Amino acid sequence: MTHLSILNVWRVQSVYRCLFFICLGRVYCASLATSPRTMSVVVLALCVTISALLYYLSVRKFSYWRNKNVPHLKPLPLLGNYGEYILMKKYVGHVSQEMCRKFSKEPYFGAFYGTEPTLVIQDPEIIKLVFTKDFYYFHSREIAKYTPNEVTTQNLFFTQGDKWKVVRQNLTPLFTSAKMKNMFYLVGKCGHTLEKLLDEETAMSGTVEAKSLMIKYTMDCIGSCVFGIETGAMEITTEKNVFVTMGEIIFNTSKFHGYKLVCRAIWPKIFYALGFKYYSTEIDIFFKSLLMSVFEKRNFKPTARHDFVDLVLALKQKNHIIGDSLNSKSMDNKKIEMKVTDDLLVSQCIVFFAAGFETSASTLSCALYELAKNQEAQRRAQEEVDEYLRRRNNKLVYECVTELPYIEACLNETMRLYPVLPVITREVVEDYTFPSGLQVDKGVRVHLPVYHLHRRPEYFPEPDSFHPERLYGDARMTSNPTHSSRSARDRGNVSVYASPKCRRP
Ligand code: HEM
Repeated sequence: MTHLSILNVWRVQSVYRCLFFICLGRVYCASLATSPRTMSVVVLALCVTISALLYYLSVRKFSYWRNKNVPHLKPLPLLGNYGEYILMKKYVGHVSQEMCRKFSKEPYFGAFYGTEPTLVIQDPEIIKLVFTKDFYYFHSREIAKYTPNEVTTQNLFFTQGDKWKVVRQNLTPLFTSAKMKNMFYLVGKCGHTLEKLLDEETAMSGTVEAKSLMIKYTMDCIGSCVFGIETGAMEITTEKNVFVTMGEIIFNTSKFHGYKLVCRAIWPKIFYALGFKYYSTEIDIFFKSLLMSVFEKRNFKPTARHDFVDLVLALKQKNHIIGDSLNSKSMDNKKIEMKVTDDLLVSQCIVFFAAGFETSASTLSCALYELAKNQEAQRRAQEEVDEYLRRRNNKLVYECVTELPYIEACLNETMRLYPVLPVITREVVEDYTFPSGLQVDKGVRVHLPVYHLHRRPEYFPEPDSFHPERLYGDARMTSNPTHSSRSARDRGNVSVYASPKCRRP
């Protein structure tokens, strides 16, 4: 069988593909019954054929950007332009930054994320289109279609379409400022526990490991604000805290897990077709029983806390949730109804726990790291807090979020330097034409190079240095010389991404 005819066979429907492999298997078995020499020839032919097939599959989309006349880099088979990241040799923020620098004058350019055509957009105005005006076309992510395969992925962070919109509309009431204000005393309590823990740890050793300390603190905050429980993450015991263990399982940092993550992101169809799962089922079992035990403690009735568990309980009792369709083109305002299953609710709990503690802990620990290196910024931050406490009679109240502008600038500057998602990924859900005339097809990936944009000297002079003053007071408006007449937020520039935007618009 020639090369070409094999490739043609590959293109037909999957049933023919199966028949093809059965035939190959037969040929192989038949060869076993013949002489060793014939067998080696058949095995060799098979290897060559399979390699040729894999090679073809790994490069077949590589003409995509050339055909569209979009500037792009030469990709490597299978790895595309992200080889160093896929092989876990480099941080994805740096890989994308290096590519962007090669196309610094282009509003966007083409790349290949593994084998997949990916448009990298660097122009803030086009990024605004993707995130706001034309969001419908870009609301999906690479694994969104496959979320029913795992309980843990059935949440806001991974889903798409009407399911995402309806769940989001039903969870939004949790985030009103009145709710935040009511919960604030819980954060204050966790703060006092943190102070005690810090005293104990510094009494034992002169060195404190900031990241794990912040993980314990943010876990405790999420535990009490979201689940209404005390996680005990900040208690000093010989046994490892079960929430800390869960956090480590969810954010498994082994290389093997890293490869799984990348393979799932690039080839989700193959990943799930082969029966793989990314998350351990331990996670959903743990959170399911946690949720049930909190429900039981509350006698399956919402309480006066009106927290996340109450909201989830109310949704469970309703059985169905209703919301709007994401597709604004459907003008009939049709309401979408969705069945509420335990898996759906458990999955939302997992994302609130995971997205809540990890992001905040890494931001806080990076802020502490930068403040430790920048004594003057540290002095100013401390002075602002001392002055605030004097004014408020030593009491921390919700309004502190607007009354500590220098602390806020320090956190925003930290998120500029260390964005939790160095590249935000999207997938085109319907063919779309950019104002430039470039038409991208459904399924094309879109990468927004947050890390690179945050470190562009055009937007942030001396981009690698920690300089909270640039995001403080009036300086915030003029820190970007190319857009000095407009406010930082209006510019649609990267400072928008420096803030903890936890949502798709
Ligand atoms: C410093 C703190 C945080 C940072 C920097 C951060 C960052 C982000 C970013 C960049 C996204 C958007 C991802 C995308 O669109 O692809 C996101 C989404 C999300 N975050 Fe956060 N986050 C933080 C804290 C939290 C907390 C405390 C919670 C919950 C208690 C949370 C829950 C979520 C959820 C549920 C989503 C998905 C929203 C959706 O797609 O509708 N995050 N976060």
